[in-house]
Amino acid sequence: PLLNARTAQADAATAAGAPVKPVTVPPAFTVRMPTLPVLAPISQLGGQDTYALTLKEVSREIIPGVQTKVLTYDGQFPGPVLRARSGRKVVIRHRNTLTMPVSVHLHGGNVSPENDGGPMDTFGPGTSRTYTYPNQQLAAGLWFHDHAHHMESEHVYRGLSATYLLSDDTERSLPLPAGQYEVPIALRDAHFDESGQLVYVMDDVFGRTTILANGRPSPYFEVAARKYRFRLLNSSNMRFFQLRLSDGGQMIQIGSDGGLLERPFTTDTVGLSPAERADVVIDFSRYPVGTRIVLENTLGPGTPDQVGKVLRFDVVRTAPDPSRVPDVLRTLPALRRATVQRSIVLSMDEDGRQEPRGFMDGQVWDPQRIDQTVAHGTSEIWTVTNTNKVVPHNFHMHLVQFRVLERNGAPAGPAEAGLKDTVRLFPGESVKLHATFDTYKGTYVYHCHLLDHSAMGMMANFRIR
Ligand code: C2O
Ligand code: CU
Repeated sequence: PLLNARTAQADAATAAGAPVKPVTVPPAFTVRMPTLPVLAPISQLGGQDTYALTLKEVSREIIPGVQTKVLTYDGQFPGPVLRARSGRKVVIRHRNTLTMPVSVHLHGGNVSPENDGGPMDTFGPGTSRTYTYPNQQLAAGLWFHDHAHHMESEHVYRGLSATYLLSDDTERSLPLPAGQYEVPIALRDAHFDESGQLVYVMDDVFGRTTILANGRPSPYFEVAARKYRFRLLNSSNMRFFQLRLSDGGQMIQIGSDGGLLERPFTTDTVGLSPAERADVVIDFSRYPVGTRIVLENTLGPGTPDQVGKVLRFDVVRTAPDPSRVPDVLRTLPALRRATVQRSIVLSMDEDGRQEPRGFMDGQVWDPQRIDQTVAHGTSEIWTVTNTNKVVPHNFHMHLVQFRVLERNGAPAGPAEAGLKDTVRLFPGESVKLHATFDTYKGTYVYHCHLLDHSAMGMMANFRIR
C-alpha cells in the first residue's frame, strides 16, 4: 500500500521540533467549485481520436493552502473529462509513472475483453498500455478508473478516476442546456489526516466524512438564473448519496448510467450509489438573483454537519435561456425475450472480523474460475440480492447496459427506467435485471462497486461464448 506521506512542510516542521498545526477542512461553502478540464486529443486522424495520458503522482490543493498527494490521469484531480462521439473510435495510450501496476477500465463501455481493463490485465510501473474504445453504443455518461485487483480501491480513492462523456446525434439534436451550462460534477468522500494527506484504510466507512465536489470540500458554485444540466457521478468508494435541494425544490432527472431516459421526470431527490451517474436539470430561473441553494445529502455515515452539505449554488446573475427539456428524450431498444434466469447473491462478513471477506454466491473472487457461462446472442434475467443485514452493496456488470425490471418485487422507479450498469442494493434488497449479450465474446467481471468490497473479493467472472 502507498504511504500516507506527510507534506514536506510538516516533515520539515517536525524535524525542526516545531509543533505541527493540524490541518482542518474549511467550513462548507468557502471554496469555489472548479469545472473539470476537457482533454484534447493528440491526433484526430484516421477517423479516430487519439489521446496520450500519463498516470502520475502529484500534489494538488484540495484543502485551501495545503498540498495533498494524489494519483492522477495527467495531473488532474479529480480526473478530467474526455468527450467522445458514438461511432467514432477513441484510442488512449496510458503511460504508468506510478510505483504500482494499474489497469484502466471504461465503466459502462461496450468494449472487447482486451480493452476492458480487467483486474488481472495490468501494466506495471514504467510501461504503457493502449486501450481502444469503439464507441458503438448510445450516448451515455461513462467514466474510467483503475481496476488493478486488490488495489483498485486505494487507487481510485487516491484519484484515479475520470469522466467520459459519450454523445450521439440524437442527444445533440435535443435543446438541453449545453456549453457552459452543462456541468460534469464528480462527488466523493475522503478522509484527511492532520497534515492534510488522504488516509486510506480498507473499509473506512466512518473515517471518510469530507465531501468533495470536483475535488474541493463542500464548495460553492456560481450559477445564472436559468437551466443547467449537471452530469453527476458518484466516484466514492463506498458512500451512497441521497441528494436534495435545501428548499425542497424540484429537479428534472433526464438520464442515468447508460444515458438519457426515454422520458424526463421531476423529483425532489436523487440517489447515487458508488459509480452511479445521474443527469439532472435544475432550473434556477425560479430563484431571484442573490439566492443560495444548497445541494444536501441526507444519508450517512457521518452527521448532517459533516456529510450533509455537498455543494451550494449561488444564483448571481440572469442569463437568456433558449434550452428546454423535451417530453421525449429518446427511444430505448425493445427488451428481447430472456431465455435464461440466474440468481446472484452478494454478501460480506458482518461479524466484525479484522479483515472481512466479500462474496459473490458465497465465494471470494478467483481470477481463474468462470462463475457464469452465457451463450452469445441471448438475453437473460439476473435476480441479484444483498443478503446482508447492515451493509449496503451495489451490483455492476462489465460490457453490458442492462435494464432494471423490478426492485424488491415491484416495478422499478423512473430513475431506474433507462439503461443502467450499476444498481444499488440496500440490506435485504433484490433487483431483477435484464441483459442482452450480443456484442463481444470473452470473459468479464461483475462485482460490488463499493470498491473496498470488490477488493475483498466481492466479484465474479462471466464468460460469453
Ligand atoms: Cu467501475 Cu468493474 O468497474
Ligand atoms: Cu459491497
